[in-house]
Amino acid sequence: MALPTDVAARRARACKTFLEQAHAATAAEGINPSTLHAIKLKLVAFAKRTELFPLADFAMPEAQARNHPLLVEDNDGYGLYLTISLPGKEAAPHDHGIWCANAAISGRERHVFYRRTDDGKQNGHAIVVKVGEVVVEPGTGIVMADHDIHSTEVVGDRPAIGLSLYGYALARFPSVTWFHPEYSSVRATPSRRHAA
Ligand SMILES: [Fe+2]
Repeated sequence: MALPTDVAARRARACKTFLEQAHAATAAEGINPSTLHAIKLKLVAFAKRTELFPLADFAMPEAQARNHPLLVEDNDGYGLYLTISLPGKEAAPHDHGIWCANAAISGRERHVFYRRTDDGKQNGHAIVVKVGEVVVEPGTGIVMADHDIHSTEVVGDRPAIGLSLYGYALARFPSVTWFHPEYSSVRATPSRRHAA
């Protein structure tokens, strides 16, 4: 049985290797549906290495959810996080403005995907329609392009724990757009692109 410090060191090395592979996957062609798919498969494979992510190394959220940075690159590099969402945690439909991939380590989270159908010309107004859904559980994951829209909901009575890879670090996130389908409304959070 390895000591916790050994696990942390192995995890750090594995995260570095993973990000090198993610960059290699996009180096030639950039970000497109095919390279995003490749990134998702790599993240799903990485999340299956559960021995690298013992729960004792990651504090539970006090409420709702918590992101633990695993490896966050400088400047406009990628951000890799271990995310824990408690049972009952939900997020309304939103668009991150930057691509991301998620893969489950344990637990289950439902992602519902939407498409915006209005022309975006009326301030505060938006219409989104559901286009699909997937339950992310161990062995599966999702990937989203810059302006894909999803909502999330933890399914069942266990926390949903997973890996999240974002095209930018969370601290340098662009504006996130939140949709309220019931009221056909939309609002955007301030961009953090110049904050960090
Ligand atoms: Fe999201």
